[in-house]
Amino acid sequence: MSGPAMLAHLLLERLSPRQPLPREPEDGLIMDDLAQNEAFELAGREDGILAFIYLYQALQIAPLVCPGDRVLDLGCGPANQLVQIARLSPQARFIGLDASPEMLARAQKTIQRCNVANVKTEAGDMTTLEGFADASFDCVISTMSLHHLHDTVALDNTMRAVRRVLKPGGGLYLIDFGRLKHTSTQRFFAEDRSDIQPEKFTQDYFNSLRAAFSVKELSRAAQALGGNVRRYATALAPFMVIFKSATRRDPDAQTRQLACELYRQLSEQQQEDFRLYARWLRASGLGLPFAPY
Ligand SMILES: C[S@@+](CC[C@H](N)C(=O)[O-])C[C@H]1O[C@@H](n2cnc3c(N)ncnc32)[C@H](O)[C@@H]1O
Repeated sequence: MSGPAMLAHLLLERLSPRQPLPREPEDGLIMDDLAQNEAFELAGREDGILAFIYLYQALQIAPLVCPGDRVLDLGCGPANQLVQIARLSPQARFIGLDASPEMLARAQKTIQRCNVANVKTEAGDMTTLEGFADASFDCVISTMSLHHLHDTVALDNTMRAVRRVLKPGGGLYLIDFGRLKHTSTQRFFAEDRSDIQPEKFTQDYFNSLRAAFSVKELSRAAQALGGNVRRYATALAPFMVIFKSATRRDPDAQTRQLACELYRQLSEQQQEDFRLYARWLRASGLGLPFAPY
């Protein structure tokens, strides 16, 4: 992320009297395009363009997961993000749910490659969570998946299904893009690192931003989650929107040490992006549970 150029786009978003752009749902709602999935998976690996954001989410989620918990991840995709979250909570059990068989096959490979024992995957639809009993999860998470839903009816159904399967007082962390007001801002974020990311990934990123729900749509649907959840968005413009429940545990020494190791494994550029992203969200009231540097 490039600081000064990014600030100019954010100020434009903040000061513009426009409403968010019309929503452009993605062509394929579940991800089953081989080349696109390949690009997304590589971007999410330890040395990929998404590595800093994945570490950030994992640190936010760690205090929401207690030892012994059963955790559901909606739209786990290739599971790079899920595996990192699971590593920080080795005594919890995670289920990655996805509607795309192609993504589930990738997730299986990721789980094997990373040698994690506490993650399983299941095929299923997040809008119904059929087959999962009421109050059967201690925590529900989802990262960058809601924008794949067809419309606000599917979004409402998903939030209601989450409320149904989550135990009262359970942990919750849902993050996705928010719809912006200007195509130029969407292009900026999608293309900011186009020199080091595959063309397929840049196109997918741009499509995702166009398919994002607005803050208003997300917030209205999230009312179904109940009162234990707070909404956060990146300062100045809702590039990212997060719904998060209260902390359930203090990260222990092992979690902190592993997080610091993961941070040190990021490239210098990725470490810089991590700190910028953390400052951006802190400016809107969402601090990190602890800094890994
Ligand atoms: C952009 S990927 C995000 C993957 C992962 N959460 C991450 O952060 O890397 C979105 C995933 O949601 C899945 N998905 C879309 N609609 C779904 C649905 N209704 N139920 C379950 N999964 C769905 C897609 O197949 C895709 O794998």
